[in-house]
Amino acid sequence: MKKPKKILIIGNWKMNLNVSQASLLVSRLDKHIKTRKGIEVVLAPSMLDLQPVSMQVDRRKFRLAAQNAYHHDEGAFTGEVSFTMLRELAHYVIIGHSERRIYFKEDLDEIRDKVSACMRNGITPILCIGETKTERRAGETRQVLHDQLMTALSNLTAEEVSEMVIAYEPVWAISTFEGDIAKPDEIGKDLTFIRDQVKELYGVQTEEKVRIIYGGSVDDHSARAYLEIPGCEGVLVGGASINYHKFAGIAEAAYRVVKENAEEKE
Ligand code: 13P
Repeated sequence: MKKPKKILIIGNWKMNLNVSQASLLVSRLDKHIKTRKGIEVVLAPSMLDLQPVSMQVDRRKFRLAAQNAYHHDEGAFTGEVSFTMLRELAHYVIIGHSERRIYFKEDLDEIRDKVSACMRNGITPILCIGETKTERRAGETRQVLHDQLMTALSNLTAEEVSEMVIAYEPVWAISTFEGDIAKPDEIGKDLTFIRDQVKELYGVQTEEKVRIIYGGSVDDHSARAYLEIPGCEGVLVGGASINYHKFAGIAEAAYRVVKENAEEKE
């Protein structure tokens, strides 16, 4: 029988927390999050916090991600950090987050080069894709997801694609919490569309291995509903990930889903 995949819980701290605040959060998370079978918890601190966090964190309990990197391995690129430099620190790197696409004007080609650099350096990419509200209203969601996905994956082999994490983060649902939240039944079909695209282009084995997760205003109350969407294999959490109580609640919600799925199979 196929081993079920672990549910991925990724905390994207974004541009928050100085070194001492990061250290405090790590010790609280360590205390409140238990090592559980069937879930994988990943922390994505700022570039500055990544190194001290890597020294502090229990690597058996948490994996680390960087939030960005530059696609050249080394050279005269003032202010940048390469995937090569991150190799010993981070298991994952978040690539193509909408905040980078929007505020830092990262285009499709740059994101493709970052995904390739990530693979070349043995790091697993967490590729973020998602449409804006205007695009959704105009009925362009599928076209946008298709274009973002196909360009980003275009230099990869099927085997490389199968190792990736793809995070569907509709831009209109990020950090809205009280406002325009993506309802789980509304985005199920978008997750399926992404999965089908991978299957069509890279085959069923790749589609079965690739991990597809959701991100956008996930907190300890909503996590379960997202994790119950068929084919949703984890969550990428922003705001709620720098609150230890909420993030630990999300990890617990994931564990309950794992347990229930296992009981159903018995
Ligand atoms: P929020 O959870 O704050 O909506 O952020 C989601 C996100 O962008 C994670 O990468």
